[in-house]
Amino acid sequence: MLGRLNHVALAVPDLAAAVAAYRDTLGARVGEPQALPEHGVTVVFVDVGNTKIELLEPLGETSPIAAFLEKNPSGGMHHVCYEVDDILAARDHLKASGARVLGDGNPKIGAHGKPVLFLHPKDFFGTLVELEQA
Ligand code: CO
Repeated sequence: MLGRLNHVALAVPDLAAAVAAYRDTLGARVGEPQALPEHGVTVVFVDVGNTKIELLEPLGETSPIAAFLEKNPSGGMHHVCYEVDDILAARDHLKASGARVLGDGNPKIGAHGKPVLFLHPKDFFGTLVELEQA
């Protein structure tokens, strides 16, 4: 079921500072910020060749990463995203296996314009897992 690693997401308190660090200090190829109000984040993708790093800054009052940044004020690893061929088949398999799918269980359109789902971190060893239909 599980395909390649699509990205690793880092929650950051200051997106401009994170972009500068990745672009100028690490010398990475960094994209343009995208506001995703329906996900409560502004995102910047960093292309590292074999995968991407997703830098996330809270957007709006009810951002899902606000609580994470309260606990991790300097930022931290927020989730890993794996590709799947068929997100509904993956969801049904996971639910039948007892894994918890967050939200209403229906995929949302993610930052790449593709359907995504999130899985409960307590079911995957403390790591929030995103699935994206490739
Ligand atoms: Co993501």
